[in-house]
Amino acid sequence: MKVSIIGTGYVGLVTGTCFAEVGHKVICVDCDDEKVKLLQQGGVPIYEPGLEELIQKNVASGGLTFTTSTREGVEKSDIIFIAVPTPPLPDGSVDLSFMEGVARDIASVMTSYKIVVDKSTVPVKTGDKVVETIRRYCKSQVEFDVVSNPEFLREGFAVGDFLKPDRVVVGVRSQRPVTAMREMYAPFNCPIIVTDINSAELIKHAANSFLALKISYINAISVLCEASGANVQEVANGIGMDHRIGRAFLDSSLGFGGSCFPKDLSAFIKISEKLGYDFALLKEVQCINARQMDRFFKKIVDTLWVLKDKKIGVLGLAFKQNTDDVRMSPAIELCQRLQKEGAILRVYDPKAMEKAKSLLQNVTYVADMNSVAEGCDALVVATEWPEFKKLDLERVRKVMTHPIMFDGRNLFDLEEMERLGFIYKSIGR
Ligand code: UDX
Repeated sequence: MKVSIIGTGYVGLVTGTCFAEVGHKVICVDCDDEKVKLLQQGGVPIYEPGLEELIQKNVASGGLTFTTSTREGVEKSDIIFIAVPTPPLPDGSVDLSFMEGVARDIASVMTSYKIVVDKSTVPVKTGDKVVETIRRYCKSQVEFDVVSNPEFLREGFAVGDFLKPDRVVVGVRSQRPVTAMREMYAPFNCPIIVTDINSAELIKHAANSFLALKISYINAISVLCEASGANVQEVANGIGMDHRIGRAFLDSSLGFGGSCFPKDLSAFIKISEKLGYDFALLKEVQCINARQMDRFFKKIVDTLWVLKDKKIGVLGLAFKQNTDDVRMSPAIELCQRLQKEGAILRVYDPKAMEKAKSLLQNVTYVADMNSVAEGCDALVVATEWPEFKKLDLERVRKVMTHPIMFDGRNLFDLEEMERLGFIYKSIGR
């Protein structure tokens, strides 16, 4: 199939590359000149495991091209995916101006039947607005269909998630675009759920909110575990083995972050409000998440007492493992709070240090994980990078002024840490 993807951010780039990988002819369009140049030369603006190789391979074979021209993208393709940012407004609702702008651009250059697919996360009923906009700005009476096709990619695992999806959701207003959408996704051999557009749009917000709810649920349980001497990991294993619950997303932490969950939760609460429903359950999910960070911070203060001039090592800056993304990262928030109290920070992240530099100044960026604790009064684990489990704990203990570790991700074994002589404080155990 001939497709174009408008918006070469995180979602657009992974989508375009993976479609090219399975044999579609893909044009990625972005208004950022510099980014397009970088991509044309085989460079990649984000770190995502496996993505760079796939881009280079498909650019070389001619199946994947990049341009700044929406006209070129629209003229040369039958299906146009919109993957532009839908950032939050100050009141938590969604800024749809990029979406509207792209719908207008597409309409102004469309001269034959096109399927316009929304991949960005948008409030329910946005599809109706896109239809209205295209109709209004289209110069001739060209036929078109609008489809909602939300993405469920996790950063750090996006290529795998795209190539092997649990399901693909296709929201339509009529049957006409269904065959083409099935053909687009046929190479992935996965269930395709065809719904109306409003349901497809709701599925995305409902899915992300439910996942965030799972994390806040286990984080609330972690409070009970700490108060009663139970172990949250044992509890998560015990409830997670019930197939109706499932073990995934039950890892207690210092709170969830990233560019999706916090934004989508606020948006969904606003959307519900506009539809006349007070989604108090989701407001509590947000509160539990904020309190989880407060509780972790308090643990540090309670142990170290005065933070001013204390030297603290921090492992992890990304909002989670396998990514260089620091947007809404709990690790960055924690560092900023520690700095505010006068702590002196030494920090390390396998991939996110460059991106962290704009948010976190006056800290020492350390080149390897085993040196981060040198001369420190405490060490904090803030991101669940798997390599942190391979930390040389004997060495770390020896180079620290005091062997105190605060683990916001429960990476280490309690008995082992005690045996090694650490004062070790984790979450819910
Ligand atoms: C999420 C959704 O998973 C994905 O389907 C959607 O398309 C975009 O939003 P992402 O933001 O990449 O993906 O990260 P995810 O892996 O879901 O983790 C989000 C946050 O929750 C991270 O900060 C992570 O560390 C935290 N988390 C996750 C926990 O604290 N505990 C868990 O058990 C799982």
